[in-house]
Amino acid sequence: MKSVLKFILILSALALGFTFLFMFKAPENRIILNADQTADTISRHIYGHFSEHLGHCIYGGIWVGENSPIPNTRGIRNDVVAALKRLNIPNLRWPGGCFADEYHWMDGIGPREQRPKMVNTHWGGVIEDNSFGTHEFLDLCEQLGTEPYICGNVGSGTVEEMSKWVEYITFDGESPMANLRRKNGRDKPWKVKFWGVGNENWGCGGHMTAEFYSDQFRRYATYCRNYGDNKLFRIAGGPSSRDYHWMRTLMEKVPYRIMQGVSLHYYTVPKTWGDKGSATEFNESEYFTTIQKTLFMDELVTQHAKIMDQFDPKKQVGLVVDEWGTWYNVEPGTNPGFLYQQNTLRDALVAAINLNIFNNHCDRVKMANIAQTVNVLQAMILTKDEKMILTPSFYVFEMYKVHHDAALIPLNLSCEDYVVEDKKIPALNASASKDKNGVTHITITNINPNKQIDLTIDIRGMKVTSVNGKILTAKELNAHNTFENPEAVKTQDFKDFKLSGNTLFVKMPAKSVVMLKVK
Ligand code: AHR
Repeated sequence: MKSVLKFILILSALALGFTFLFMFKAPENRIILNADQTADTISRHIYGHFSEHLGHCIYGGIWVGENSPIPNTRGIRNDVVAALKRLNIPNLRWPGGCFADEYHWMDGIGPREQRPKMVNTHWGGVIEDNSFGTHEFLDLCEQLGTEPYICGNVGSGTVEEMSKWVEYITFDGESPMANLRRKNGRDKPWKVKFWGVGNENWGCGGHMTAEFYSDQFRRYATYCRNYGDNKLFRIAGGPSSRDYHWMRTLMEKVPYRIMQGVSLHYYTVPKTWGDKGSATEFNESEYFTTIQKTLFMDELVTQHAKIMDQFDPKKQVGLVVDEWGTWYNVEPGTNPGFLYQQNTLRDALVAAINLNIFNNHCDRVKMANIAQTVNVLQAMILTKDEKMILTPSFYVFEMYKVHHDAALIPLNLSCEDYVVEDKKIPALNASASKDKNGVTHITITNINPNKQIDLTIDIRGMKVTSVNGKILTAKELNAHNTFENPEAVKTQDFKDFKLSGNTLFVKMPAKSVVMLKVK
């Protein structure tokens, strides 16, 4: 009798133990990857950039003029071109932004000393001398080996002005605009595919209603002609953030043969538009909000894509996220209209998350442009006179080059949460692709700044023979590069993983971005 009682007691204790274990078991951090099941191509244009006539993006950051002591080629900084070439930047958006809707392109052609000046009313009220215009921008694109993405003026321009700009740049025959181009020193036309028809026309681009802009777009886009074999990809000024009405109206009213893309703008602003927060001084709660607001991009893209699917189930119109990135208070002592901010490891995590989101939505997201390339907002590069530094965000773009035009491998990710106060978000974020040589790349971000995460990756559908890794991390979340210490944050080799058969056990350091190359 006693032994039966003992047996029952042991059994109950065991059952209790298992229940306890089950209830409080740490969630599994696991990725399942079917490497032989690829989906859409991740367009390289998702890795696009943006250079506006704003602060020191163009002037000082890119353009120094032919007589500058800073080494340049026809006025364009050699160091900046060489750095950007490391990123294989696929396209460059110009001249704005808000500047685009007050830019009159004819002021920026012909002999520089004769070009009229204007006031850049949006960005600091400074005098724009138009020394960097169409020829200079297209020269920059040629030096970079990148595709131009030009945004035309709808807000204060005319249909005729925009139509003539397309003719000036792309028409090969005898015509008033093609002849003017020849007179200005360029015989053969350039190729320009990406053409924006206005920018933020709900705001700085004219404060229009969705209905009014849709009609305007129909007029303007009609006269943006395809000359010869130059086929335009016309991009409508799309919604800001969650303005789903704007998206629905455009999709409903505009015939798709004249609209190949719709833009979306969404910035990560940690606090409020009045006090956005500092780029370098922030606490964990502000960091959490920054990441949480970045993750909102996934919801935005999903919801806008759903609306687009209703009207365009064949996905003929691309979603073009042509302004994204972090936006903080400007660095103390700098011109508030110049939007100059530092860039820390936090920005690198933001970049990695956004790029993973775009990759994972590449069936609809055909293009994206981080704002902006040099010295403005979430920049790749900061310059100070002749000096130049690369930001942590630069290194993310360099690591993620492996995804350019690769085939998305949808992955199944389960992970623990990163918890701050009473709020939580998934601690890991990832995307994967297979390139033209059959090599698989996985990019993973551990957003938890306090904890290493042990991650298991089950790779199915291929025989894994080798794995290499790169990592971007630092001791502090606000670590950043300065002109005095330009290499505080940069990519390193990553080896903290073990391969057993086709399973990869990865130790993801706290606050890190990792890229794994799997063969
Ligand atoms: O990137 C800075 C500005 O942000 C752009 O000019 C405008 O389009 C947006 O509001």
